[in-house]
Amino acid sequence: MLLDSQAIAAMTARRRAAFVNSLSGFKSANLVGTADASGGTNLAIMSSAVHLGSHPPLLALVIRPGGDDRHTLANVLHTGCFTLNHVNTAIIEAAHQTAARYPRDISEFDATGLTPQWQPDFNAPMVAEATVKLGLRLREHQELAINRTHLLIGEIVLSEVPEAQINADGSLDLAGSDTVALAGLDTYYRSVPVKRMAYAKPDLPPRAVNSDPV
Ligand SMILES: Cc1cc2nc3c(=O)[nH]c(=O)nc-3n(C[C@H](O)[C@H](O)[C@H](O)COP(=O)(O)O)c2cc1C
Repeated sequence: MLLDSQAIAAMTARRRAAFVNSLSGFKSANLVGTADASGGTNLAIMSSAVHLGSHPPLLALVIRPGGDDRHTLANVLHTGCFTLNHVNTAIIEAAHQTAARYPRDISEFDATGLTPQWQPDFNAPMVAEATVKLGLRLREHQELAINRTHLLIGEIVLSEVPEAQINADGSLDLAGSDTVALAGLDTYYRSVPVKRMAYAKPDLPPRAVNSDPV
């Protein structure tokens, strides 16, 4: 099936959103924790985290257009910090529920039963039930001209990860950490490693690092 721009534009809004949201492939599932000016907590699931660089360690989030109605955006712009907490299989239901449009004075922590976990001198809550938790300081904010989405670029200044899940090369074993992946806006996947490949070089054929599957 080949779909052109016209075919995509002709879909109903709901169908188009479901279709296009699945086209970038599997995405990460993160709970974004923030606090407002009076310390009230907010939690929202987001699938748009993208790695921007390792030195400094930068991640970006894409936030949908909108002004003050976007609680995460307003909080990050106010406090200058946010947390990313990997969704794991035990908290999928609670994590998904944070997408509901709760009024500003209702904390998604209270609404879903998840537990805020604070770090000293850091004005955004982590999620106690997550196994991988990051604290980020806002480094850059841009409202993109093309569709008015907001790009929030944060530097990772805190990372709480299970020591047993750090691989020999320093990478984090995401499957071992029970981190899930997302397709579209509603389907959560447990990951199964298939192969681990060595650094690619023009003069060498592709080589698996370990026996397959890893
Ligand atoms: C699976 C999933 C992924 C989502 N990813 C994003 C995202 O990357 N960016 C975004 O702005 N909203 C995303 N949303 C929608 C937000 O979770 C939703 O708008 C939420 O109410 C925002 O909360 P807030 O107003 O407290 O920030 C996603 C929703 C779901 C269900």
